[in-house]
Amino acid sequence: MAESMKGLKRSHRCTEVSSQNIGEEVTVMGWVQKRRNLGSLIFVDLRDRSGILQIVFDENEVGAEGFAKAGTLRSEYVIAVTGKIAKREGAVNENLATGDIELKATLLRILSESETPPFPIEENINTKEELRLKYRCLDLRRPDIQSNIIMRSKVATLTREFLTREGFLEIETPMLTKSTPEGARDYLVPSRVHPGKFYALPQSPQLFKQMLMCAGYDRYVQIARCFRDEDLRADRQPEFTQIDMELSFVDVDDVIDVNERLLAYLFKEILGVTVELPIQRMPWQEAMDRFGSDKPDLRFGMELKNITDIVRNCGFGVFTGAIENGGSVRGINAKGQGSMPRKKIDALVDFAKGYGAKGLAYIAIQEDGSLKSSFAKFMTEEEMAAIVSMLEGEPGDLLLFAADRNKIVWNVLGALRVELAEQMGLLKKDEYRFVWITEFPQFEWSDEEERFVAMHHPFTMPMDEDLDKLESDPGAVRAKAYDIVLNGTEIGGGSVRIHQADVQARMFKALGMTEEVANEKFGFLLDAFKYGVPPHAGLAYGLDRLVMLMAKCDSIRDVIAFPKVKDASCLLTDAPNIVDEKQLEELSIQMIHTEEEKSE
Ligand code: AMO
Ligand code: AMP
Repeated sequence: MAESMKGLKRSHRCTEVSSQNIGEEVTVMGWVQKRRNLGSLIFVDLRDRSGILQIVFDENEVGAEGFAKAGTLRSEYVIAVTGKIAKREGAVNENLATGDIELKATLLRILSESETPPFPIEENINTKEELRLKYRCLDLRRPDIQSNIIMRSKVATLTREFLTREGFLEIETPMLTKSTPEGARDYLVPSRVHPGKFYALPQSPQLFKQMLMCAGYDRYVQIARCFRDEDLRADRQPEFTQIDMELSFVDVDDVIDVNERLLAYLFKEILGVTVELPIQRMPWQEAMDRFGSDKPDLRFGMELKNITDIVRNCGFGVFTGAIENGGSVRGINAKGQGSMPRKKIDALVDFAKGYGAKGLAYIAIQEDGSLKSSFAKFMTEEEMAAIVSMLEGEPGDLLLFAADRNKIVWNVLGALRVELAEQMGLLKKDEYRFVWITEFPQFEWSDEEERFVAMHHPFTMPMDEDLDKLESDPGAVRAKAYDIVLNGTEIGGGSVRIHQADVQARMFKALGMTEEVANEKFGFLLDAFKYGVPPHAGLAYGLDRLVMLMAKCDSIRDVIAFPKVKDASCLLTDAPNIVDEKQLEELSIQMIHTEEEKSE
């Protein structure tokens, strides 16, 4: 039977009391973690968001009725207890903040009972994630998830505090808006008032923050929800949160400066970790050449080596064919993995194929220095020796090679490098390696669309020294764009924006966009730019990803209170769901396929 809390007022959270409070009367409220009966005494661990406090029920103090009631307590009952804080009589529990005290109950009320939970409310449980997400309310009570959610709140609070001090204004931008150019699919919202028309949920506040700069607000920040209908992964959600900012009258260095100090502040305040400033910067080309990735994990080496020149005229068709097609041959050295069994190497080949490789060639250097290789028979001894030397191969090493177009070679070896590091135990979660990736290509060739597309977005400013190549050699133009990468994850990105109409027009032209199309898509921004636009630049962090790394989690789902799963559904609410005919009618929407029909 549930009782009311009438007349009672919580005085402390469970761990807000300590040996300092011995002798004081307090009232605590929370959930029963567990109950133990020890003859004339009943012990209860009471839990709230702060932690656990041991409560002792002694019939002489709580009375016969209270004692009987205490005997009925079960896990997850919500109770209120009044009593006196005392020095713990039994053994001190070193694992608890309140391990040297206990609360001697004089009054107990059961505020609410609980059914047996589907899984224990404990740290590090092995319960399937689907079950945890279905009962997220219970899952969120578990200390590990709880500390992530609390850390997330701290990151948001400290960010606001820091950026406010730096002169930023927090301004909201619309959720119901027009498609933004971040390149993913939009989530659409049908309009009732305008049949056949749709709003798009923002992929980011990009265009609005640029208009705020036009409006003179000069430093803007928003902790903004963003929506992207893309395939989900461990670090991607359909709705996620950005720490989004934009600054006027600045260039690359100014944005980097304020953000480095923000990161250093967050890491110091929350984790006690010192981030050495300035953070290393690496041009995109160097990142690709050395690490095969524009988000290199710098916690370990295993750098890519280019052997194209060594094998250009060799007898191995796989290599020479790739080179003749304008590609390259590159390799990595997995130190000490030379005795990897064939089966495991085959698994690496399959892994590489998942990233677009046609195969993976290897050399295993035996302890006696002899070479076991998938392609030695096509090579001269000199060529093999040169390859081994280029990769600094030593007895016991495993050298792996990919031959293909550069993009594929980078992609394959970049991924393989991280996979091997994982297998070799080189990824330490308490080590934080930041790097700014700069000088991104302005454009990326799209095979699908057979044209250049913007690598960041169409408002990104080219580097001053490359401006004159916009027409003559677009593929060589570098952008004033930057990403901040932490331990191989892109936690944020941004750019300096174009503020001159003529440069913007050239950019649209290079993207194969007519003036008409540009005006239809972005006319409102281009119009705003006609009335005095300051030079401006900005950046946005993925807050979920940042907290995921700070909390040492493998998935952003563990730092989001109510996340979605891989197919973008919510196991807790069952969204997305079918809606009433009437609702559809109001929106002038008729179904042509239901999910069931589609899957048939
Ligand atoms: P960008 O598209 O790089 O830039 O996004 C910024 C950061 O947001 C995070 N992020 C995501 N996090 C979780 N799930 C997703 N689906 C997801 N997509 C992106 C990443 C990324 O670095 N308007 C520009 C910023 C700017 O130029 O100022 C933008 O949105 O951590
Ligand atoms: P094949 O001649 O296709 O049997 O390949 C010989 C060896 O080269 C095998 O070990 C393949 O895995 C490897 N290989 C095939 N294609 C590539 C490629 N594009 N890059 C690197 N190695 C490859």
